[in-house]
Amino acid sequence: MSLVCLLYASTISDNFEPDDIKHILSSAQRNNAKQHVTGMLSFNRKYFLQCLEGAREHVNEIYHRIARDPRHHRLEVLDYQYVNKRSFSEWHMGYLQDTHTLSELFYKYSPSDQFDPYNMSPDGAFLLLQDIKTEILNALKESR
Ligand SMILES: Cc1cc2nc3c(=O)[nH]c(=O)nc-3n(C[C@H](O)[C@H](O)[C@H](O)COP(=O)(O)O)c2cc1C
Repeated sequence: MSLVCLLYASTISDNFEPDDIKHILSSAQRNNAKQHVTGMLSFNRKYFLQCLEGAREHVNEIYHRIARDPRHHRLEVLDYQYVNKRSFSEWHMGYLQDTHTLSELFYKYSPSDQFDPYNMSPDGAFLLLQDIKTEILNALKESR
């Protein structure tokens, strides 16, 4: 099976309510598990940055559904490529809450902590999501 990784950025719309992030994550975890799609979602109260990885037809189908969601707009695909292995195999949709740690990571990849994924290179955006993954895994280890 050939795997693809799709990376996109979007902007929260006026329809977005703060509680929506919980609903989005629960839909993502439930639906993506059914299609063996994994990935990571980052959110900073203004923008989303999401990576979806899995079989091409499943990733495309999920992306098209997400693209119709009125809770965000200005979707821009930053990268779409075939990959040999998954980078986020741990999660059907990983997520790190908007915290001080997250601001520090945004700062590492942007000129300011005003995270703006549209101005990031695809590599930078992907590395940011990988750093978020490391952060989550470290926090999990510490909590054990
Ligand atoms: C930024 C964002 C990311 C989303 N990510 C996913 C996702 O990875 N998988 C998914 O099934 N739905 C995702 N959704 C939700 C979908 O747009 C849609 O509401 C949902 O798939 C509907 O399925 P449900 O009726 O089972 O909840 C996302 C929505 C937004 C706004």
